[in-house]
Amino acid sequence: MNTQCPHAIDMQTDNNSEFLPPLTAIAAPWMTEFLSDPAFLDELLQQHGSPINIIHTGPFGENYNYLIQAIDRHQLPRLIFFARKANRCKAFVKESKRLGLGVDTASYQELKECLELGCDPRKLVMTAAVKDEPLMRLAIEHDVLMVLDNEDECRLANQLSKERGKLTDIGVRISGFHDEGEKLYSRFGFDTGHVLEFITSRIGKEKDYGSLRFDGFHFHLNGYSSRMRSEALLQSIHLADNLLTQGIRTSFIDMGGGIPVNYLSSSSEWKTFWSELAKAVLRERSPITFGNTGLGYELINGRLHGKQKVYPYYNELSKGDFLDAVLSYQKTSGDTPASLLHAKGIELRMEPGRSLLDQTGLTMAKVVHRKRDSNGDWLIGLAMNKSQLGSSSADFLCDPVLVQNDRDKSQTRPTPVFLTGGYCLEQDIILQRKIVLPCLPKTGDILVFLNTAGYLMHFYETRSHLFEFAKNLVMEENSGALAVY
Ligand SMILES: Cc1ncc(COP(=O)(O)O)c(C=O)c1O
Repeated sequence: MNTQCPHAIDMQTDNNSEFLPPLTAIAAPWMTEFLSDPAFLDELLQQHGSPINIIHTGPFGENYNYLIQAIDRHQLPRLIFFARKANRCKAFVKESKRLGLGVDTASYQELKECLELGCDPRKLVMTAAVKDEPLMRLAIEHDVLMVLDNEDECRLANQLSKERGKLTDIGVRISGFHDEGEKLYSRFGFDTGHVLEFITSRIGKEKDYGSLRFDGFHFHLNGYSSRMRSEALLQSIHLADNLLTQGIRTSFIDMGGGIPVNYLSSSSEWKTFWSELAKAVLRERSPITFGNTGLGYELINGRLHGKQKVYPYYNELSKGDFLDAVLSYQKTSGDTPASLLHAKGIELRMEPGRSLLDQTGLTMAKVVHRKRDSNGDWLIGLAMNKSQLGSSSADFLCDPVLVQNDRDKSQTRPTPVFLTGGYCLEQDIILQRKIVLPCLPKTGDILVFLNTAGYLMHFYETRSHLFEFAKNLVMEENSGALAVY
């Protein structure tokens, strides 16, 4: 490998005086240790291609503990399901099984794989957004609880249950909760205003859907507001009270996922980033993002409009603390969601994905080329594409780490760059932020993105241009050995 930062002459033209706000990512100890051996990382990329996802399930159990401790403080009956849509690797299903944690499945393949891996069907739930006949048959055959979203699903579930001579327990998904005078829209579930009438008149013995039995409510809210989740819990408990007056018991309320994760080590870096971005969008400073994209901020008639369209990567309240806040929320009556669930003996269920995967994975890719674009910016071409670090967030706001096999420290000169991907799209920019690397990388160097297991590595991954999917290597807990998943 080359031993110098090779563009010393070009570097003279860099405008290194521009301030580019850093966003330092939190790295679990296993990540720091893993990154300390660049030659080994290089060997892995030679062997398995680029990019590679590295998975370590160790923190998964710790995250689970944070959540159960928060619930146990309130002495509630509980059942947590890992939302496996957040990551494709079987390793997390196996780990869920080992820890006694349930699994939330969202497709035929996800459910089938969990059953084949020997998961206890009583600890599985099926919440797929669209449920066709094979998927429902599979769930009914194995007595896996289905969360039904609409009347057509009830009709099909009832027909299939009847054919098998079964009485099938179901959860009913609900939405349309009220929060601060607004009704929260969701395309999923039955409207809270109509669901009682539907359940009492249509579901159960001697009714239209007589092969189904109502067991509990389910919701999943967009966004990361603890108050909205508390409100949704209180309103679901209220629905359960109403059902009880008609002799129908609610044995659980499932609050879905959406428990936030904190990715970043500094609140001041987070604040500074947003104030610098606002200045850039207002043309008060040089751009800090590709094409000066505002990540939700917009300049209209000389003023700043819009709001941040990214995941809240910095979170003061995350995992167990967030859950505790949801459960402890107090209205004027003095009742909290926790005290009401406790008093009524309703089991609290949830399906966290991202928060269980915090610090369990990283993604690394090789530098293939460096070039300057017509603006004079450095573009670093990586052997990966944006779909391999994609989520519904407009950007992944965490600094990557540069790993060099043979770094020449004397040549270190911080260099602002954009990272570009392999799809033939102008938009295949891996990170929208201009980031500062400790020096201009060489070809063959490695860029590492930390904490990518939750959604980032798999959820949006595509195989355009027939590029292979990234390999997933799972680290053995004790030996540290890596196995291809
Ligand atoms: C129904 C349902 N449950 C659980 C989850 C998991 O959410 P999170 O990964 O934010 O915890 C999702 C995510 O979209 C979902 O749609």
